[in-house]
Amino acid sequence: MKRIVLLGATGSIGRQAIEVIDGHPELELVAAASGSRSIDGVAPLTQVGGDLVELLERAEPDLVLNAVVGFAGLPATLWALEHGVDLALANKESLVAAGELALAAQRRGGGLLLPVDSEHSAAFQCLDGRASETVDSLVLTASGGPFRGRTREELHDVTPDEALAHPTWNMGPKITIDSATLANKGLELIEAHFLFGLSYERIEVVVHPTSVVHAFVRLRDGAALAHLGYPDMRVPISYALTYPERAATPIPSLDLASGLSLEFHAPDLETFPLLALARGAGEQGGTFPCVFNAANELAVAAFLEGRLPFLGIAEVVEETLAASDGASARDLDDLVEADASARELAERTLAPA
Ligand SMILES: NC(=O)c1ccc[n+]([C@@H]2O[C@H](COP(=O)([O-])OP(=O)(O)OC[C@H]3O[C@@H](n4cnc5c(N)ncnc54)[C@H](OP(=O)(O)O)[C@@H]3O)[C@@H](O)[C@H]2O)c1
Repeated sequence: MKRIVLLGATGSIGRQAIEVIDGHPELELVAAASGSRSIDGVAPLTQVGGDLVELLERAEPDLVLNAVVGFAGLPATLWALEHGVDLALANKESLVAAGELALAAQRRGGGLLLPVDSEHSAAFQCLDGRASETVDSLVLTASGGPFRGRTREELHDVTPDEALAHPTWNMGPKITIDSATLANKGLELIEAHFLFGLSYERIEVVVHPTSVVHAFVRLRDGAALAHLGYPDMRVPISYALTYPERAATPIPSLDLASGLSLEFHAPDLETFPLLALARGAGEQGGTFPCVFNAANELAVAAFLEGRLPFLGIAEVVEETLAASDGASARDLDDLVEADASARELAERTLAPA
């Protein structure tokens, strides 16, 4: 039996994870947590809000699935990595904010870091067992979100409801807005840099509207390996939870006879500047990725509350990055401070002059 703790049990990933766990008798859900919604009866040990690390210590898991949204997931990520407990990571914000600290914790702890993001799960599988000198680059695919093909002028007045209507994935509100702005692909770019040890210039993003190809790995001999499948998060969730066995799922394999559309094009960085801002923050290093994430979280919340227009999200992030020094973090306290001061700066850019 694999003892699993699920953090973020009420969310989109959390609910699909429960379905996957229910379908596999060798997986045992020993504890679950949410932020504010009730989870009575979901697991023998449950917690709503509060300190996730306390729950992890009590539950003694073999594997933690971190499906909390946002920076709030960071202490749990660091705890699992430091304690050598395998970590299935959906909470990309924690790796973006804490990249180097997280990798150092993993080196000390020695547990597995298994990506749940579909693109990173795909890349992980394409890279598996390959010597790093044989790999030229990694390509992450992006659906382009609901506003793909629009100009900046056409995005001035878009509403949260329009931004929440994602064409291919059914996800929580924060990541859905991030997909509409392409901030999500920016976060994924930084996540991939840390997960796979690739420099930023070796990670490319292409728009692929049907989300059938999740990632490509380009090899030095001119070959490219791709991972394909219908967009269904139960596949990467199951892969991470049952790794290395790769258990069966109810999701069908691709029906090639029904006519698949495999279209790719370059992202429009002028209309969707958050992808380039994330790349810049990643390349600058230090706490710039943490600042990018904090400002973006705050701006997305403000957009959903009707306090900020859609195009204002990138403006808030850009101004916050410009006003930050990005000094490196030595520990979790430093990161918490960097996150808090970035949120303060971002909030100030929102306030009417
Ligand atoms: N959804 C996807 O398809 C997908 C794909 C790839 C990666 N991801 C990543 O997975 C993470 C979760 O995404 P999601 O779409 O599942 O989000 P979601 O539907 O909004 O769910 C978020 C979960 O986090 C919980 N939570 C929030 N703050 C918390 C806190 N302080 N302590 C404990 N739990 C807290 C929420 O609990 P309450 O409900 O009680 O607030 C909820 O269970 C994100 O980092 C996202 O980027 C998601």
